[in-house]
Amino acid sequence: MSTEVLQQTKETQLTGNKQFYIESYGCAMNFSDSEIIGSIMAEHGYGHTNDEFDADVIFLNTCAIRENAEKTIRDRLKHLRLNKKKNSDLIIGVLGCMAERLKTKLLEEEKLVDVVVGPDAYRDLPKLVAEVEEGNRAINVLLSREETYAEISPMRLNTNGVSAFISIMRGCDNMCSFCVVPFTRGRERSRDPESIVAEAKTLSEAGYKEVTLLGQNVDSYLWFGGGPKVEFKNADDSTKANAVTFAKLLEMVAKVDPNMRVRFSTSHPKDICDDVLYTMCKYDNICKYIHLPAQSGNTRVLEIMNRTYTREWYLDKVKRIREIIPECGISCDIIAGFCSETEEEHQDTLSLMQQSRFDFSYMYKYSERPGTLAAKKMEDDVPEEVKSRRLTEIIQLQNELSLQNNSAYIGKTVRVLADSLSKKSDQDLSGRNDQNIKVVFPKGEHKIGDYVDVLIERVTVTTLIGKAIN
Ligand code: 5AD
Ligand code: SF4
Repeated sequence: MSTEVLQQTKETQLTGNKQFYIESYGCAMNFSDSEIIGSIMAEHGYGHTNDEFDADVIFLNTCAIRENAEKTIRDRLKHLRLNKKKNSDLIIGVLGCMAERLKTKLLEEEKLVDVVVGPDAYRDLPKLVAEVEEGNRAINVLLSREETYAEISPMRLNTNGVSAFISIMRGCDNMCSFCVVPFTRGRERSRDPESIVAEAKTLSEAGYKEVTLLGQNVDSYLWFGGGPKVEFKNADDSTKANAVTFAKLLEMVAKVDPNMRVRFSTSHPKDICDDVLYTMCKYDNICKYIHLPAQSGNTRVLEIMNRTYTREWYLDKVKRIREIIPECGISCDIIAGFCSETEEEHQDTLSLMQQSRFDFSYMYKYSERPGTLAAKKMEDDVPEEVKSRRLTEIIQLQNELSLQNNSAYIGKTVRVLADSLSKKSDQDLSGRNDQNIKVVFPKGEHKIGDYVDVLIERVTVTTLIGKAIN
């Protein structure tokens, strides 16, 4: 019987006190999805364990964005197979983007896992696990145009009780030519704002002090009663007037609790607009920080990346952000050595970084992903050593910029939300300022979850170090 048929024929039959263990890889969205998965499993009688050796079911919630990410997961899966030697009933599942991309491959060809579930099929997980318990293999990698898991209240996993993610939309319609996400996460869809606000309220009541609204392209969020976004153009005037844009949603969440910080990620330079920037100004509890991936500083490269903006457009956006919110922190994603990138075009990326003065960046070598437009139509022709050298130059420049930006904080006081003990010393607390820069200080009487005013005395490339003054 094919696995597709199997998944439709059996009702969920989970019994006993079974436990699942989950590891998340990749972006914040995956960590957030794992909390939805946790909630779905708990509802079907599964307990959560942090010990893989106690688990009856092990899930890896995976990332496919670069080849390296997939290699790490494959190695981990091979290692986990050894656990099966000790517990022959152990079920291993691969979830998320790599499951979606490889579909039956890990199940049938490589025989590394028992169950494969894509990002839009998590409601089916208990049923699929039950299939495996009956001795079958199971898969559901159907993508959906509607699924947002809106009403599911996520099980907060490995939480510090201070910060939490709220997923506000799923999928991506942008089709950047290098990116596998539109294929693994499907079409963009926004989640009902009422369920988002309700989740924020629940978190506030539980004592959380910070929420991060998550989407691949949050500025494109739009709710007008459900239904595909293309229909919005033809909607009547009152529907249009009542629609919830990202700026409105941000305001609704900010109003939930003035003592709870609101962050968001990721912004696309083509979509972030003044409304969002003015809303950020209006509310003290919306953090003054924007993650604004540029990917490249050269207009020709941006065009073949299908980013739909030019270098000038990007620089204008940065200028606009700094005009409206002078103290705003900005971070970036950059790809080194995309197909056909020349030395001059690489220099344009460095100069865009100089001009934008990013607080920090996530920097990567281009990694060709099967099925993307770039893989189909362009040659991955920048030699590996050239990619590495360009990436090194990008990282060196970012380190200089970060150190300069951080140095400007010396002698100033910043408000920090303490979210953990410092990794280096349990006598120090660690947290983030409004601009999302890490701050470390001696804990004194303060505890995790406190807002603390910290006078900055010295800095490193990544961290501000100081002492509490309140
Ligand atoms: N190669 C390298 N980096 C990539 N990213 C996305 N796809 C690729 C790829 N094929 C980076 C982009 C994106 C971030 C999440 O990952 O910079 O913004
Ligand atoms: Fe990928 Fe581009 Fe969508 Fe980001 S905006 S997830 S880079 S396709």
